[in-house]
Amino acid sequence: MNASRLLFTDLHHEVDHKQLHIQGAIPEWLSGTLFRNGPASHLDGHLFDGLAMIHKFTLDSGRATYSNRFLRTGVYEQAMKTGKTSSGFATPPQSGETGSNPNVSVMKMDHHFVAMTESPDVVEFDPYSLRTVGVLPYADQLAAHYTTAHPHLDIHQRGLINFTVEFGRTCYYHIYGLPAGSRKRTLIASIETDRPAYMHSFGITENHIVLVEFPLLFHPQELFAGDKPIAECMHWTPGRGTRFLVVGKRSGKLEKIVECGDYFSFHLINAFEKQGDIFIDACTMRSAGFIQSLSGSDMTDKPFSPANQPAMLRFHLAADKQTARVEKLSEEYMEFPGIHYQWANAQDYRFAYGVSTNQLQPENVENQLIKVDTRSGKALTWFQPGHYPGEPVFAPAPGAKAEDDGAILSVVLDGHSGHSYLLILNAESFAEIARAEVPHHIPYGFHGLFTNELFIEERNETR
Ligand code: CO
Repeated sequence: MNASRLLFTDLHHEVDHKQLHIQGAIPEWLSGTLFRNGPASHLDGHLFDGLAMIHKFTLDSGRATYSNRFLRTGVYEQAMKTGKTSSGFATPPQSGETGSNPNVSVMKMDHHFVAMTESPDVVEFDPYSLRTVGVLPYADQLAAHYTTAHPHLDIHQRGLINFTVEFGRTCYYHIYGLPAGSRKRTLIASIETDRPAYMHSFGITENHIVLVEFPLLFHPQELFAGDKPIAECMHWTPGRGTRFLVVGKRSGKLEKIVECGDYFSFHLINAFEKQGDIFIDACTMRSAGFIQSLSGSDMTDKPFSPANQPAMLRFHLAADKQTARVEKLSEEYMEFPGIHYQWANAQDYRFAYGVSTNQLQPENVENQLIKVDTRSGKALTWFQPGHYPGEPVFAPAPGAKAEDDGAILSVVLDGHSGHSYLLILNAESFAEIARAEVPHHIPYGFHGLFTNELFIEERNETR
């Protein structure tokens, strides 16, 4: 039996602030909450359509507790009744549409914690109990059929930046800002397009917002026909190339379109500008043909074949060129990239963290954590055979004095014991500091959020 199979095995039970056994010692300064999001049941379908579960690790005075809870969405309720999830990413539409199943990321919008996916509704949950509050409405009518689960925090304006896609006879990308304290999105730019691209993330720099159109294109007429899941309305279109739409953050003007060859990426690592040139770093594959295949009982055989591992590429958009120059940042591969966001976002940064598969002991799922110095290409790794780490989240040390002054948090499945644990590494040395052991497995997760707030309270209520 494949040691990684539990990554794609349903988890049904929910626990509330369970005290975890610690190996090693969690540093006193590391105090706060890690929220994680990911699919946790109906994992026999497409990975992106599993029901959303929020996991919560509370780190406080060297101790750790764990809670987990499914989001009680309409999709969840329907799945409990019928045994099936309703229309999702790769699930054919059914009658009785019940809204979104936001299983991708966790964001903080003012004091609201929300779960996000690529359908536009965000679902709020209570950070103490993980109870589902419901859809958090916006106070505007911005057209939105699709969005990203990876908004950026704008370092200069406070507030979030993201975009929606509007499908229609004419399609648009609507880039918006959501100022802190407001529920009203303000439009930065609307860009017309006849073949909208599937974009999972985007980049911001000091003065620009950059949408990267990889040649994985929606066919809007197929979406309107309504008989196919969204994954089947996207088409890998080699020869079309990659297009960088460079938009002025303040002017809202589409300043230029820079092109290069065919690539695909879910996750940009970072973006920044220097003397008029723009640099976009991304975890980049040569094809997106594998997306439809992320389903079924043989998941562990398929998803991230070593042949299609994401390379760390830097796209250099020179001020005077219409074509991007492409260079490799490292010989290492990387997916689920993370940076010291508050320090390095939109800056000429140095360190990226991520997961990859060990080149000496490759598997079809990520089996190691890596830290890459983007300037030298050198890497540090954390690897233990049969253990499967998820996205590394950077937790800065209080008053961090260097970009890598902090800890890396990653939820790891121990494929031998069948249990997961929260792994804590020293972000500078990549040495292991501690593990907080969960008494069961945690399935394959997507993204998380660390905040230095603690959400612990005395409660009499029962769940
Ligand atoms: Co993502």
